[in-house]
Amino acid sequence: VRQASKAHGISPSTVFQAYYLLENQGLISARPRSGYFVRDNASRILDEPHVALQQQAPSDVAVSELVFSVLGSLRDNDTVPFGSAFPSPELFPLARLATSMTRGLRQLSSHAVISDMTTGHPDLCRQIAQRYMVNGMQLPTEELVITNGAMEALNLGLQCVTQPGDLVAIEAPAFYATLQVLERLKLRAVEIPVHPREGIDLEVLENRLETLPIKACWFMSHLHNPLGASLSDARKAELYALLCRHQLPMLEDDVYAELYFDQRAEVSPPQPVKALDVEGLVMHCGSFSKCLAPGYRVGWISAGRHTREISRLKLMTTISPSLPAQVALADYLQHGGYDRHLRKLRL
Ligand SMILES: Cc1ncc(COP(=O)(O)O)c(C=O)c1O
Repeated sequence: VRQASKAHGISPSTVFQAYYLLENQGLISARPRSGYFVRDNASRILDEPHVALQQQAPSDVAVSELVFSVLGSLRDNDTVPFGSAFPSPELFPLARLATSMTRGLRQLSSHAVISDMTTGHPDLCRQIAQRYMVNGMQLPTEELVITNGAMEALNLGLQCVTQPGDLVAIEAPAFYATLQVLERLKLRAVEIPVHPREGIDLEVLENRLETLPIKACWFMSHLHNPLGASLSDARKAELYALLCRHQLPMLEDDVYAELYFDQRAEVSPPQPVKALDVEGLVMHCGSFSKCLAPGYRVGWISAGRHTREISRLKLMTTISPSLPAQVALADYLQHGGYDRHLRKLRL
């Protein structure tokens, strides 16, 4: 109560009034001499969002004006950014990352400043591939392209497999920037409804693939933004079978993978669809923006059969990812205690 009163500049009695209200709604409970806590079943008390209404026909996308006006309002300190997907900056080990950047740059030969302008610093690629390996997925370092955040990875991936006017299957609702990428590349959207717990409706997807000339799809197979839904392993396998049957490239946006948690220690993190990808159809995109280093703008794409084309697109657009940011992250992943940081972040 004291903390909330200080943080929001309101009196303790106002905080109590707010907490009594939340307690009456069954969302929080008081523990003697400890404070107020969110109840375990709070999420079940809130109404589940409705599944989006099915939009049958492909549509043009024009959302930029609306998106820019909403993003503009985030700069207003009086607005609480519920739509912002960034955890509080205080939760990130920024000082430790700065140490890693200094150390990494000191160790870099002067020649490397030019010669390491590639589509990915080898040390960072190795560290990323190792993390996947520990979680049970083989990701060859040669298939990794480091990008300017996941956003560049997703842009390059979609650009690589489509032409203006093509149809792309996306989730409804989708992360707003997905819509902006489609708008920029002049692609048409085929909306696939997402169930708030079970994820993308595969039956609708199958029907659309049979009736429309869809050229690519862009999905979040787990920890969907904005609904939080995840596909079960069985549904991921069904989705992959559909991709293979239609030889459909899929962009897998997995930026929240490291924020997964389960209080049962024996439960291992869910595998992305990429883990099933023997045919190289899945372009799997990740990022450090949400879990470690916002603002460093470091993400990646593991692009299967499209790797060469994506490396070329990367060279033709932004040439190389920032070397200092990559060096800092490679050093941090090796020495900085990333797993300890993630355990704290997930609590
Ligand atoms: C679902 C989703 N994908 C991609 C991104 C972009 O990630 P990055 O900041 O690494 O470009 C975001 C950021 O909000 C996101 O929420």
